[in-house]
Parts: sequence; structure tokens; C-alpha cells
Amino acid sequence: MCRFVTVAASHDAAGPAEGPSRGDMSVAIGRFGGFLFMSPRDIGLFLRSARTDASIARMRATDGDLAAFDAAYEGGDPWASADPRYVYQRRKYDVLASLLPPRRFARALDLGSGLGLMARRLAAHADEVVGIDISEAAVAHATTAHRDLPQLSFMQGDMMALPAVLEGSFDLLVLADTLYYLPPPLTDATLKEVALRLARLLRPGGVCLLANHYFSGADADSRLSRRIHQAFAWSPGLQVTAEHRRPFYLVTMLERPGDDAGPITRSVLGT
Ligand SMILES: C[S@@+](CC[C@H](N)C(=O)[O-])C[C@H]1O[C@@H](n2cnc3c(N)ncnc32)[C@H](O)[C@@H]1O
Repeated sequence: MCRFVTVAASHDAAGPAEGPSRGDMSVAIGRFGGFLFMSPRDIGLFLRSARTDASIARMRATDGDLAAFDAAYEGGDPWASADPRYVYQRRKYDVLASLLPPRRFARALDLGSGLGLMARRLAAHADEVVGIDISEAAVAHATTAHRDLPQLSFMQGDMMALPAVLEGSFDLLVLADTLYYLPPPLTDATLKEVALRLARLLRPGGVCLLANHYFSGADADSRLSRRIHQAFAWSPGLQVTAEHRRPFYLVTMLERPGDDAGPITRSVLGT
């Protein structure tokens, strides 16, 4: 779940984050808002995630995205997100769910749903939750793991080529640690195009929760996350309602304006 070799440093939501960068082997086991967000053991999660990301990057270049993500899921839990030894990812899902507006959603979509752990959290907030992931192996794992919740379903799909029938069919869209896995190069124009397209999945009044890694802000991964969030903030199909910094991620909450706001047509070349 993390694209980083290291975890680090103290973090204060009120000021600029003093975060880690690749190669910085310091590890801070910290408190945020009075609760422990990670334990010393969590370094294992970050190391495992870095290994997974490296092997996906190698394999996608030769075998394509589908094969690369499927191979990652062969071992069952490529980012150690379900591993009970680590608290960081579990806490992160809980925090993300807690940032949702206090309303009941009719139909939620978790795009890039992986093992379905976030989708499972969403089941407490929505009548129906659909998880979509490019990896068939991930979808199979998630379907088996969450079969006790009938309102939860998973299907294979590439977020870059979703069927038009899904447009306007969700009132909650969650994108957690997924967009930076889109095929490189992720230019601003590509990100804006993606933001425009994904906004169309929402019904008017629908909510989008966007979460991505964020360390110092100056490191390459944080800069990519910032560009992703800026593309969504730019999208005329979405309005930012809140932004949250947590160790070590950034969350932007957005809303699709109501029908009277007009169609979503802005050019990706525009500002
Ligand atoms: C780091 S995992 C995050 C999983 C989940 N969102 C979570 O927070 O537990 C990234 C997921 O994105 C999926 N993914 C990558 N590219 C995708 C695409 N183009 N369309 C759909 N899913 C994709 C991967 O298969 C993987 O399950």
C-alpha cells in the first residue's frame, strides 16, 4: 500500500510536514491526534510494499498491467494491507471512513479495490458497494473474503476503460492509493482527463474521496500525489469540500455539483 522504502519523521498537520524521502532510513513511530498511527513493526509493511511496487514496475513493462497486478496478488496480500501484524493500513482505512460525510449513500464504488478492505469499511455507509480492480486475482480474493456481506460485490475492470453504463450510477467514489499506478507517464493532461472521466461516474451531489501518499511534499511521490489531487480539484465535474493531511497521506474530499451546474465539458488543455 506504500510506494516508499522508508517511513519517517515527525508530522504536524498544522504546519508543513517534515517527512521522509526515499533513502532516508529514519523511522518515526508517532502519534497523531492522540492516537498511534503506526507501530515499529510497520516498517515491515513499508518494505514489503516497496518490493511489490518494484516487481510490478518491472513486470508491467514487459507483460502489461493486468499480468503485473495479477502476479502481485498471487502471494495473496502484496501490500500487507490485511496482515494483522501491521496497524498502519488498518488505521488508515478507519480514518478514511471517518472522513466521509455523515450521510447514507445508495451506491458506492471503490475503484482499485484490491483485497476489498476499504470497500468493506464502506459497507457501513452505503446500501450497496461495488469494488472494481484491474486484477482478476484481487477480485477473486476480495469476493471470497467478503462473501458474508451481500451488499458488497467485486468485478474486474480497468479504470481507464470502464463501461459507459457505470456513468452517473454512484453517489460515492473512493480512490485510495490507486491512481499513481496508472501507466506512466502521468502527465497533467492525462490526470485531468482521468479526473474528468471518473467524475462522470458520480450522480449529481455525489461524493469523491481521493487519498494518496504524502510525505514531505518535496519528494517525488508526494509531488505526484499533489498533481493528482490538483487535477481532481481542477475538474469542473467536481468541487473540493475538504482537504486533510495525515501521516503519511493526503485526502481530498470532492463533490459533484447538482444538475443545475451544467454538463462536464472542460477541455483538458484549459485551466
Ligand atoms: C495499492 S493497491 C490499493 C488497493 C485499495 N485501494 C486499498 O487501499 O486497499 C492499488 C490497487 O490498484 C489496482 N489498479 C491498478 N491499476 C488499476 C486500473 N487501471 N484500474 C483498476 N485498478 C487498478 C491494483 O490492482 C491494486 O489492487
